[in-house]
Amino acid sequence: MRAALYDSYGPPEVLYEGRVPVPVRKPGEVLVRVHAASVNGGELHGRAGRVRFVTGRRFPQRTGLDFAGEVAEVDPDATGLRVGDRVWGILGRTFGSAAEYVSVRPRQIAYAPGNVTLTEAASLPAGGTTSLTALRDKAGLRAGERLLVRGASGGVGSVAVQLGKALGAHVTGLAGAKNADFVRELGADEVLDHRATALADLDRYDVIMDTVGTEHPVLRRRLAPGGRLVSIAFDIDHPVRSIGYLLGSAVHGRQ
Ligand SMILES: NC(=O)c1ccc[n+]([C@@H]2O[C@H](COP(=O)([O-])OP(=O)(O)OC[C@H]3O[C@@H](n4cnc5c(N)ncnc54)[C@H](OP(=O)(O)O)[C@@H]3O)[C@@H](O)[C@H]2O)c1
Repeated sequence: MRAALYDSYGPPEVLYEGRVPVPVRKPGEVLVRVHAASVNGGELHGRAGRVRFVTGRRFPQRTGLDFAGEVAEVDPDATGLRVGDRVWGILGRTFGSAAEYVSVRPRQIAYAPGNVTLTEAASLPAGGTTSLTALRDKAGLRAGERLLVRGASGGVGSVAVQLGKALGAHVTGLAGAKNADFVRELGADEVLDHRATALADLDRYDVIMDTVGTEHPVLRRRLAPGGRLVSIAFDIDHPVRSIGYLLGSAVHGRQ
């Protein structure tokens, strides 16, 4: 089958369309014919070679975590799924959804919503579940609270802005000036240019969702009493410091 591969770390140009074997479906797995896959922010760092302690030195490497497509092969007694069902999902342990087929455990997929195309659906699994987990489950965002989304124009942040509005929050997005209109269209009440705004000068927020991974101590000081900071990224240039912070707790409150 065809798959996106790269033989060395570097810019997007290192990617090429190569040939790899169609994955062999293990017992209990579902073979999905991929219609669309998306690119998440973290993968850009991976392909650029900025997290080699995770990605290693073996090539060719594959790319893509999210996918949407149709069931191609399945054991119907085990899953209830049928060949041809529209599904979306996230690969578990490896990259490689930018390919014609993936073979996954049933819990990695769900029926794709009928009101979006499979291409639109592929943009949502990782960014959507990350935002939902961060805002609803970790931060417990409530109606009427003030939410700051740092990285509001990105794959995760653009969902967080919409989810924040759906949960009834007042949403401020921190994004690049060129994307301000896009973030406003998503529903943000206020958009600030991250290149022209010092974090230390920001208002105080009940919930701050950070998708950039830097300056956590400064962000914590922008929390209102009882506020919660959720960060889903680490500082790529200071991974040890950042991972230590994240391992401490993904959610930091301020009393
Ligand atoms: N995508 C996922 O499902 C997922 C899941 C878990 C964790 N993560 C992690 O979350 C991080 C972001 O992922 P993503 O997929 O959302 O990336 P992305 O689509 O590349 O978006 C990143 C966004 O951050 C903005 N940005 C960059 N520097 C900023 C700053 N100093 N202040 C405010 N905004 C800034 C950029 O805005 P402008 O372009 O407007 O300047 C860009 O739109 C990555 O580290 C990734 O590993 C992602």
